[in-house]
Amino acid sequence: MTAHQVRAESDEELEKRHTRYLRTDAPGQVLVVCDGDAVVGSVAFWEHTDGDDVVWEAGWSILPEFQGRGYAGRALEALIGVIRSEGTHSAVHAYPSVDNAPSNALCRRAGFVLRGTTPFPFRGGVLLSNDWVLEL
Ligand SMILES: CC(C)(COP(=O)(O)OP(=O)(O)OC[C@H]1O[C@@H](n2cnc3c(N)ncnc32)[C@H](O)[C@@H]1OP(=O)(O)O)[C@@H](O)C(=O)NCCC(=O)NCCS
Repeated sequence: MTAHQVRAESDEELEKRHTRYLRTDAPGQVLVVCDGDAVVGSVAFWEHTDGDDVVWEAGWSILPEFQGRGYAGRALEALIGVIRSEGTHSAVHAYPSVDNAPSNALCRRAGFVLRGTTPFPFRGGVLLSNDWVLEL
């Protein structure tokens, strides 16, 4: 799950993140991806500053045993619909590391345009990431 995300988080860090997500009233949402009763992953969007602009940033995770079955592609389509309905910002960005093949394929398939690469500070490291953007 974290092969392209610098490092895994400790149990304590995960607990803190989870609590923060439950309590936050910051703009954005975390949506759980389900197939019937089975939870297969999550997709999310939150605010991100891009130069002088505030934009949406999106991210996604599908649990290993459910990967490669199209769940992320379908969830991202639904997520884009939710983001559009917010009507707040004019674009949504995604920053998968350049070597995260499934995540980059997802962006391309969903109609994001590749704007270039960018060093992206993340979890105490720096990822060389693609900057994908979808104008809303
Ligand atoms: C990225 C991730 C969410 C994709 O989830 P998924 O449900 O397996 O993705 P899908 O089955 O919808 O496939 C998405 C695309 O990736 C491609 N793909 C899937 N697995 C792949 C692999 N191992 N290598 C290359 N491409 C792959 C699919 O063919 C599809 O592309 P297409 O639509 O052009 O055919 C999943 O791999 C994941 O959770 N990874 C760990 C967390 C992570 O890296 N999140 C993203 C951070 S930016």
